[in-house]
Amino acid sequence: MTLPNSLLIQNGELVSDGRRYKADLLIEGETITQIGENLTAPDGARVIDASGKYVFPGFIDPHVHVHLPFMGTFAKDTHTTASQAALIGGTTTFIEMLCPAGNEKLAGAWEIWTNKAEGKSASDYTFHLGVTRWDEETEATLRQLVADGMKSFKVFLAYKGAFGIDDAALYGVCKLAKELGVIVTAHCENADLVSQLQQKLLAEGKTGPEWHEPSRPEGVEAEGTAHFATFLEMTGAKGYVVHLSNARALEAALAAKARGVDIDVEVVIPHLLLDKTYAERPGIEGAKHVMSPPLRDKSNQPALWQALELGQIDTVGTDHCPFDVGQKHMGDGNFTLIPNGIPAIEDRVNLLYTYGVSRGNLRLERFVDAASTRAAQLFGLYPRKGTLSVGSDADIVVFDPHYRGVVSAATSHMNNDYSGFEGFELDGRPELVTVRGEVAAENGEFVGTVGRGQLLRR
Ligand code: URP
Ligand code: ZN
Ligand code: ZN
Ligand code: ZN
Repeated sequence: MTLPNSLLIQNGELVSDGRRYKADLLIEGETITQIGENLTAPDGARVIDASGKYVFPGFIDPHVHVHLPFMGTFAKDTHTTASQAALIGGTTTFIEMLCPAGNEKLAGAWEIWTNKAEGKSASDYTFHLGVTRWDEETEATLRQLVADGMKSFKVFLAYKGAFGIDDAALYGVCKLAKELGVIVTAHCENADLVSQLQQKLLAEGKTGPEWHEPSRPEGVEAEGTAHFATFLEMTGAKGYVVHLSNARALEAALAAKARGVDIDVEVVIPHLLLDKTYAERPGIEGAKHVMSPPLRDKSNQPALWQALELGQIDTVGTDHCPFDVGQKHMGDGNFTLIPNGIPAIEDRVNLLYTYGVSRGNLRLERFVDAASTRAAQLFGLYPRKGTLSVGSDADIVVFDPHYRGVVSAATSHMNNDYSGFEGFELDGRPELVTVRGEVAAENGEFVGTVGRGQLLRR
């Protein structure tokens, strides 16, 4: 087997594990083999001058949907389109939510999801195992998949009648996770409250996308968060709140943490940058910005940024979930039928760098931690991923902070026909991205190998 060429990255500023320092970094084969000053290039090595650039560990998106049958349709990306877009944006590993329909068996869903991804992805990937029903067979399958290297479960307290599970099932999942030493990730909105409020609003003739947020207000999510934390407390399991969107829900998570509950928190890029006025735009423009939990009142964002800087919020994901404009029209005249989700896998790192680091809301070291290292640690990928260390996978981002650009659907590589972030300015982008030593993206274009991405067992 011929190894990919060796690559010497010179004169960059490395940022990893809470440190920033000038050094050279040598990649041989699929691995980082040396970090230090004035390294010599082996014969035949490609040499990159990274003067004035940052060198980051490959970024990890802990919350992605690629194959997703949801609300009567399917999310638009394939593993090829999603992984190419991810790599262009600096994300070298993503964790996909494997979400069986409530009547589908987990073992069958595992076959479907892994077959969809195998040989199709250009970036590395792994799965959170969605538990959408609870019986002996599901439990046996979970035990088997954990033995095979999967290290996280996903539950939905929302989506009654679809992915949602009841409290008895939630208790069973948390108990099993505690026994097996895996982490339970959870979408925390009280499903019964959501369906009652949806029915009330529709009965009042409130049918447009602007009513999506009032149908699942902040308190509904705060209740779901506290509810999940109680189940973690009763079982001793370790938990992770996905896409936490507002200050009240954050208070609920932090209160649980303060009394000793083992709970971590994710925020996703739409909630940091977009607010509910986007979903209040008339008609289809509003529908493009419908996701759950909903985009919130802008007054929540300072609290989210501050908690992120302090490490009270651990990670930044996307909840990448692309539905196109035609699919968004499924909810014309009834907001409860708008497929929920916003695409973002390509833009997360650049947006977080721009509106976090460049605009003074986030330290550079914390940016790397939140967008890469912390997810690797929580989900069993560290130190193979999430760090610039000798022996780690050579997943590297050479990042140019001087680049200036604008997010637009017209230049996006995601399989979609709109961007939720249309017109957002970018201060910087990845100039070169490697996956296990192979250059996979350069200056906004994919140059890697479809099918080279591996399913990561942890
Ligand atoms: O609106 C969203 N978030 N769509 C994807 C499914 C989920 O809840 O993560
Ligand atoms: Zn969710
Ligand atoms: Zn409750
Ligand atoms: Zn999601």
